[in-house]
Amino acid sequence: MCGIFAYLNYLTPKTRHEVLELLVRGLKRLEYRGYDSAGVAIDSADGKDMVLVKRSGQVKKLEEAIAEKFSDLCNEEQIDIHCGIAHTRWATHGVPSEVNAHPQRSDDHHSFVVVHNGIITNYKDVKTYLTMHGYTFESDTDTEIIAKLIHHLYKQHPQYSFRELVEQVIQQLEGAFAVAIKSKHFPGECVASRRGSPLLVGIKTKTRLATDHIPILYGKVPLLPRTESTSEFMPLEDKQVEYFFASDAAALIEHTNRVIYLEDDDVAAVKDGALSIHRLKKCLDDPHAREITTLKMEIQEIMKGNYQYFMQKEIFEQSESVVNTMRGRVNFENGTVTLGGIKDYIPEIKRCRRLMLIGCGTSYHSAVATRQLLEELTELPVMVELASDFLDRNTPIFRDDVCFFISQSGETADTLMALRYCKQRGALIVGITNTVGSSICRESHCGVHINAGPEIGVASTKAYTSQFISLVMFGLVMSEDRISLQQRRQEIIKGLAGLESAIRKVLKLDPLVLEMAKDLYQHKSLLIMGRGYNFATCLEGALKVKELTYMHSEGIMAGELKHGPLALVDDSMPVLMIILRDPVYAKCMNALQQVTAREGRPILICEEGDEETKSFSSRALEIPRIVDCLQGILTVIPMQLLSYHIAVLRGCNVDCPRNLAKSVTVE
Ligand code: M6R
Repeated sequence: MCGIFAYLNYLTPKTRHEVLELLVRGLKRLEYRGYDSAGVAIDSADGKDMVLVKRSGQVKKLEEAIAEKFSDLCNEEQIDIHCGIAHTRWATHGVPSEVNAHPQRSDDHHSFVVVHNGIITNYKDVKTYLTMHGYTFESDTDTEIIAKLIHHLYKQHPQYSFRELVEQVIQQLEGAFAVAIKSKHFPGECVASRRGSPLLVGIKTKTRLATDHIPILYGKVPLLPRTESTSEFMPLEDKQVEYFFASDAAALIEHTNRVIYLEDDDVAAVKDGALSIHRLKKCLDDPHAREITTLKMEIQEIMKGNYQYFMQKEIFEQSESVVNTMRGRVNFENGTVTLGGIKDYIPEIKRCRRLMLIGCGTSYHSAVATRQLLEELTELPVMVELASDFLDRNTPIFRDDVCFFISQSGETADTLMALRYCKQRGALIVGITNTVGSSICRESHCGVHINAGPEIGVASTKAYTSQFISLVMFGLVMSEDRISLQQRRQEIIKGLAGLESAIRKVLKLDPLVLEMAKDLYQHKSLLIMGRGYNFATCLEGALKVKELTYMHSEGIMAGELKHGPLALVDDSMPVLMIILRDPVYAKCMNALQQVTAREGRPILICEEGDEETKSFSSRALEIPRIVDCLQGILTVIPMQLLSYHIAVLRGCNVDCPRNLAKSVTVE
């Protein structure tokens, strides 16, 4: 939710025009996180004030406004030291508007400006306090209180450093946040902090860095005697350095691959070109330093290439991403599977009372998709839970439970809170994520990286198929020494070996799916029916249709048809049915007959060459035959393509559907 991007150049001359270009480019990379308004703050031409530009709508609108406002900027001289901050918003407090867009400011003179991601839950109390001290508020945001509270403290304690002021302020804040702050009183400095929302610092130097670790300073403010810190990172003799603060790595990677993932309550400050990381309290197991990580991500991985939308690219990448998920894990020659991230915990997992699979949205569907197989291969009770509902119910959790947290971003607030809930109760925590260094990764005892590569489109596609495969691989690891399951395991491993080419075949259905989309896009509703291994595809397909096309869609368990949904069926209701030659084939055929008897004219997803099933409909999508428990990987792809094409035909913004964001870091 929301994207933060800040850029500080120290002894690395840049014009303000170049700085603005950099900020806007960073925002574009983060736009998937929220896109209802955007803004930037840079220094004024004389460096004595600040200029804020904010616009409602997507970053493109902001870019146009900047071009208009600064049309003569190209001829300006370069500045040696400068800090600019920028933000793209997903509204929580206050409607999307220019005044509610970030940066939010402390006063008309821009003493302090803040970009913020997350929610300050006690903002009303702070607002009341500040109002009593004469502050008036211009926006409806919770963010504005941060800027004003810093200003208030600054007036009371002008001797404090910028970092100390921010440390004071974050102690007063409740809720989840990531912030980057700039001040007129501290030119060329930037202070950033996080609690519950991701934030990274990227470091770019011309020559190799002297160290890979930034020592952490601990202490209280204001009682902390201002020691000359030895914990600062001052790069090299030439001292030329650029710092980037961003909500995720996608915004940094084109500038640097050297990053520090900030932890909750870290305060990162850049002053005189040196970066320091400070924490108020030291816990026993705290490390002494934050490591500089080298990102492996390539810039091409986050570019659209020849595709029209990221979602389209990500759908078509699935033949490769599934292979990446299995790489180095599934040995197709000797039929073994190794998951390095959980290997040492397998004996403990085998002794557990039950497995709980917890997630939201698409990630939850990957749990639904693999539950049956995990029950079969682990012979353990497997519960699947929506993180929000799981928390609402205060679900009982025991020390001998093993809880899996499935999340593409690794930052979803509901999933993260459920993780903390289970961890407190002593359960073993296993993270299944796509984002290295994410909160879920860091807070899990062990886990599996799904290695699907960056997923930029808000609608999750390749992460789903990779989550699915990760869970299947877990089942295979758990059943390694079960004699009775060996034949089944080999059947599944053979299925995994054939996935790449099977997916390529399914992707060839694209032109046919487009034709079907043309028939469907003007309808109001689409029902998707199936059961067994394909029920999850119905739920996931319906979610894709809803979020991308704004049409109503429902995933229906075919066994439930006669208990209500059949009443919806007539000759005008669009229906799609998944009917494959698996153990529930006869039951699915029964459902098909119930639908056609009500004059329903379903589109079928069936197996290649299955003439008998096809004879019930004039429209069918044929997918290659594969072992039953992996069918869901193939059947979901036509649903992804269908929702994509319907969205394009309806003129919807495919990568940034209305009202949504990629990473939902608020409850
Ligand atoms: O990052 P996560 O996997 O934790 O996100 C969970 C859901 O918000 C996400 O899957 C959402 O449902 C997708 N936009 C659906 O396409």
